[in-house]
Amino acid sequence: MKGIVLAGGLGTRLHPLTRITNKHLLPVYDKPMVFYPIQALVNAGIKDIMVVTGGNNAGDFLRLLANGADFGLRHLNYGYQEGEGGIAAALKVAEPFVEGHRICVVLGDNIIEKSIKGAVDAYKAQPSGGKILLKEVPDPQRFGVPVFDENNRVIRVEEKPADPKSPYAVTGIYMYDADVFEIINTLKPSGRGELEITDVNNAYLERGDLTYDVLDGWWADAGTFDSLLKVSNLVARTGANNL
Ligand code: DAU
Repeated sequence: MKGIVLAGGLGTRLHPLTRITNKHLLPVYDKPMVFYPIQALVNAGIKDIMVVTGGNNAGDFLRLLANGADFGLRHLNYGYQEGEGGIAAALKVAEPFVEGHRICVVLGDNIIEKSIKGAVDAYKAQPSGGKILLKEVPDPQRFGVPVFDENNRVIRVEEKPADPKSPYAVTGIYMYDADVFEIINTLKPSGRGELEITDVNNAYLERGDLTYDVLDGWWADAGTFDSLLKVSNLVARTGANNL
């Protein structure tokens, strides 16, 4: 399996911090944000990794991460997203790197306490399709939210619903087979002008080929001032994925 960290976008919710640098280079406690999703992939046994970024600070990623020695890697791959077309558009950049393999995608601002190796291994045993990881949260309206049927199957994901149908967030950790790129090619930009990863997950759900696990340990994104502060404190207290 290959790993992809998506670290593009404008990070406008963190202005003025992100006016002169990329969100994923900002500190989360004692490390740059992007270290955490990379380490999460490595701890899950995934060593062939691409970091997709964009904007004016792409070169800083190369200087910071180099060939991945901080993570015990001998090599890191880089992709450049032109513009800020959304998470699915950033993922599309990785298509030539993926070469038909299965992938685990981690959003660059998602930080988790514990290893996802169990979920990754379960996904590898799945014949096809995708897997999402859910986490119960107090504020699901900020996220993609799964809708369940009476048998606890996810029937659809709603992106930032005003009236969430469950208390779960779809975390920014996604596992897909190579069909994901065909699916991305069919997407239309959403109301916020982006190719949405939620539409990718809904396409897999329509095929009946998306499983889910509930994430163990704490999970946070670091995309707002409050969540950045919260996750920095969590990392200071418990560490995250052995970082
Ligand atoms: O954090 C989990 C949530 O992430 C999910 O629950 C939502 O379903 C999903 O849409 C996403 O929501 P956000 O609105 O929080 O995503 P945001 O625009 O903050 O982007 C998250 C990361 O994705 C960002 O840190 C880097 C990457 N990204 C985003 C965009 C828009 C890119 O690489 N390129 C992009 O163009």
